[in-house]
This record gives sequence, C-alpha cells and structure tokens, in this order.
Amino acid sequence: MSGPNTSFDPKQVSALNAESVQAVVSEALAAIANCADLAALKDARLAHAGDRSPLALANREIGALPPAAKAEAGKRMGLARQEIKAALDAREALLLEARDAQVLTEEAVDVTLPTYERPVGGRHPLTTLMERICDVFIAMGYDIAEGPEVEAEWINFDALNLPPDHPARTMQDTFYIESADSGVVLRTQTSPIQIRAMLDREVPIYVVAPGRVFRTDELDATHTPVFHQVEGLAVDIGITMADLKGTLDHFAQEMFGAGIRTRLRPSYFPFTEPSAEVDLQCFVCRGQSIGNPERPCRTCGSEGWIEWGGCGMVNPRVLRAVGIDPEIYRGFAFGMGIERTLMFRNGVTDMRDMVEGDVRFTRAFGLEA
Ligand code: DAH
Repeated sequence: MSGPNTSFDPKQVSALNAESVQAVVSEALAAIANCADLAALKDARLAHAGDRSPLALANREIGALPPAAKAEAGKRMGLARQEIKAALDAREALLLEARDAQVLTEEAVDVTLPTYERPVGGRHPLTTLMERICDVFIAMGYDIAEGPEVEAEWINFDALNLPPDHPARTMQDTFYIESADSGVVLRTQTSPIQIRAMLDREVPIYVVAPGRVFRTDELDATHTPVFHQVEGLAVDIGITMADLKGTLDHFAQEMFGAGIRTRLRPSYFPFTEPSAEVDLQCFVCRGQSIGNPERPCRTCGSEGWIEWGGCGMVNPRVLRAVGIDPEIYRGFAFGMGIERTLMFRNGVTDMRDMVEGDVRFTRAFGLEA
C-alpha cells in the first residue's frame, strides 16, 4: 500500500497560490476599470473570465493538488472568479447607462424646428362637379356611360345624322388625327357616347356620360380647346318631351338650388327632332330683373334666363342607325357644358382659370375628397 501522495511539484500549481491569484485578479480589475466602452468590456470579459483566461487555466490545475489543498484552492479560485464577474457586471451596468444617456442626447429630435410645409392638393372643381352630376343621375337609376376621346368620325358625326356635307359639321371645328381624311377625330362632343351606349346596351337605356371634348378654339375667357360636357340619354317605350323637361328641371335644381326652373327654346340639332336649347331661370335674380331697370342683373343681362345646353327627342334616323326600331322606342337626349355649369354655379368668370392648374383656384372650392 502506498501512502498519501504528498510529493507534488509546487511549480506545476504555482498559479493557484494566493499571490498569483491576487495578481491575476488585480490585473483583471484594472483592465475592467479601464474599459471605455461596451466593445472593450466584451474583450475584457473574454480575456479575464473566458475559457482561456488565466483563472480558467489555473482552475484546471486544482486536480493536481493534494486532497488537503484542493478545497482551499477551490475556494480561492471561486472567490477570485466571483470578484472578476462582479467587476465586469458593475462596469457593464455603468457603460450601458452611459451609452443610453448618449443615445438619448444624440438622437433627440427638436420638435420646435420649423418643417417644410407640404400643402394638401385639391381635386379640380370640374372633376368634383362631374362626380356630383353623376350622383344626381345615379339616384334616378341611370348608368354612367363612357366612350373614347379619340373617336371614329362616323360615330362622332355620321351616326348622329351629320353626313360629310352637313353644314352643322362646320359648327364644330374638329381636330383630326393625322389627316382630315383619316376618319379619326378627337371627339367634338359627348354625343357619340349616345351611339356607343345604344350599340352596346339593350333598351331600355338610361345613361349619363360626362367627358372631355375638343374643338379648335383659341383659349380665351369663354373658350378653351379642351373642355367637358355631360350627355344624357333615355330610350324606352313611351318616352315623351315631358319626361325630358321633368328630368332637366330636377337636374337644374340639384345644380342650382330648389325652385330653379328650365325653359325649352326651339332650336336645331341633327341628332334630335324636335330640338331645343335648355335655358335656366337666372338663379341670381330669378327673373326679377326682367323689365325692371331698378334691379338690373349682370348674370343674365336682365333677361331672366341663361342658356345652359341643348336637348331634344332622339331623331328616328339616329335610332335606325344603331338598330333600334323608332316605331317602338323613343328617346330623349341632352348635353351641357361642364365649364359653363361651373361658371354659373360658382361665379367663375374666366375659363382660363380652370385650365391653368393654379392650386389657389382649386383650393377656393374646398378640398373635396
Ligand atoms: N352635342 C351638342 C353640342 O355639343 C349638345 C347637345 C345638344 C347634346 C342636343 C344633345 C342634344 O344630346 O340632344 O353642342
């Protein structure tokens, strides 16, 4: 039997003696205290508390000690490691706090700084007026119809009973696409949408069609080469001019206020027979200025009525051109200028304001969604 192993090489375990451990701890504490930021502290944690740190390496030597020395060395190592860990944690808390404070000052936002103003745009009053007109007719059971702005000459003119030599063609100065014999035009009116609606749909037909139209006019206070119209069309059994009148009265009241009346004045359009101009009762003087020099009205020139658009009963020739039997069906149609309607409704005196795109004009109508 051999006795207890008391002969060990003190050199082999010198790292475990009190002075060595104290020296390692002091060095670690100094290094930790010197860490200026979290990155340096991370390195220090690795160097002084990691798997390859002097203390971790020394710890491995405990097994080589005689049993009597193991407990003491173990206790010393435990305390040393605790001390280093506590120092690391304390330093980390301090550095974290400093970092957070720095972030708060560096990333602070000065809410009192002036900002760039981004004004909200406004929808154009012509757009909102067209939508409002559509709403009026949708409420009466109408559909919205559409057609192309680049239109076949046949649909823009011929099908509407304006053959090539018809004098009324010169009433509307036309933009031709490519050449005058190309057969393709920028539509001069929304009336071709009537033709498309009758070709595409089954009777009965009730449609309203707002849209952009083009004529070779110079831009001035009362003309623009690009403008807007709204077309209405009803085709059914037993339609009469009384239906047309009632519809126009309702439309006028929705646009210009309760009680406004309309007047039909005989006129001529090739696509309607009979045809009429639609006059509005002047919504400013309501007719009070007629023959009353003491109360002249600038809006209607003291005539009591203002010309608003055209209308009539759909010409049987037009019905026949789109394959609808005029012996069975009848229709009415009307067309108004949207710019003109906006001028009356909102007191716009110069059409150029509507096309120049100055947001100050739009904004005056309020920012409708
Ligand atoms: N299209 C005509 C124009 O631009 C307006 C018009 C008149 C439309 C009579 C119609 C109508 O539907 O029946 O002058």
